[in-house]
Amino acid sequence: MNTPEPGLPMVVPAQGLPARVRIHEVGARDGLQNEKATVPTAVKAEFVRRLAGTGLTTIEATSFVHPKWVPQLADAEELYPAVADLPVELPVLVPNERGLDRALALGARRVAVFASATESFARANLNRTVDEALTMFEPVVRRAKAADVHVRGYLSMCFGDPWEGAVPVPQVVRVCRALLDMGCDELSLGDTIGVATPGHVTALLTALAGAGVPVSALGVHFHDTYGQALSNTLAALQQGVSTVDASAGGLGGCPYAKSATGNLATEDLVWMLRGLGIDTGVDLGRLVATSVWMAAHLGRTSPSRTVRALSHQES
Ligand code: HMG
Ligand code: MG
Repeated sequence: MNTPEPGLPMVVPAQGLPARVRIHEVGARDGLQNEKATVPTAVKAEFVRRLAGTGLTTIEATSFVHPKWVPQLADAEELYPAVADLPVELPVLVPNERGLDRALALGARRVAVFASATESFARANLNRTVDEALTMFEPVVRRAKAADVHVRGYLSMCFGDPWEGAVPVPQVVRVCRALLDMGCDELSLGDTIGVATPGHVTALLTALAGAGVPVSALGVHFHDTYGQALSNTLAALQQGVSTVDASAGGLGGCPYAKSATGNLATEDLVWMLRGLGIDTGVDLGRLVATSVWMAAHLGRTSPSRTVRALSHQES
């Protein structure tokens, strides 16, 4: 054990965890898509720039979805060129070929399709059945791969669904396999409404391994509704997952799943990983400063415990 630097945890490594974790930062997309007020494009661009200045290497920038479905991100055509010069990966969401065309026209090199493990959410979020949505994604993935563009496949409602309750593990495994067989380079397992607990995470990852899904292709995406996101992340790390989605300051939710709250806060994740001696390349002080700056623009304090502790914000 060493003496901690100010503003950082003591470092006490644990066995059986990855040496390095890649954080897939989703604050600018998952976070801001769910804000009541639409954040001005210049503020979003500055947010992404500040996030890049913290050492984060993958920053999901925006979504090329129907602007009526997510008005908060209707400025994707203006935002993307304003940040495209940054030396980081800038994935964007594309639900269909129209979205892919818009992203490719601006030079995007990483796109993400977003499937659902449940029929209710597929209908609410994509106006499709689960299989119709997969059919919609097929040409997106094929054309993206032909253009040498990296494709992430999100899978929502991997644990529980607000309309259907507990989601059976085999149902999740089936859609994961379909996304991988379609050609997705990586998958992100979404706990969209934050109802997972660590045993459930372990059970899903064990089943995926049994179905031949390589853990190196998996990321986890936990919303923190019941305060379980960090515990669930540790359970995933213990199974070999080394890509973790998080949102600066704990921003986030999903406009088409009302019970969803913010994602795992990136600061809370970095604090735990740093304490475990796991490298992320992120400067925690700069990240906290970025979230405090963004919270001031949104007119409220950050829900992240680490941001509050390190910035002395009042709740
Ligand atoms: P639809 O109404 O079925 O669309 O919506 P359509 O295919 O019938 O097309 C209708 C019109 O929309 C057409 O225009 C299209 O051109 C246009 P018209 O000919 O009538 O003038 N259109 C578009 N315009 C711009 N960009 C596009 C686009 N697509 C069609 N990309 C659709 C289907 C998929 C478009 C709609 O349901 C949609 O946009 N959904 C997006 C919902 C969303 O973004 N949700 C949040 C992201 S998912 C999430 O947050 C979960 C995640 O974080 C993981 C987790 O937590 O679980 C990723
Ligand atoms: Mg999400």
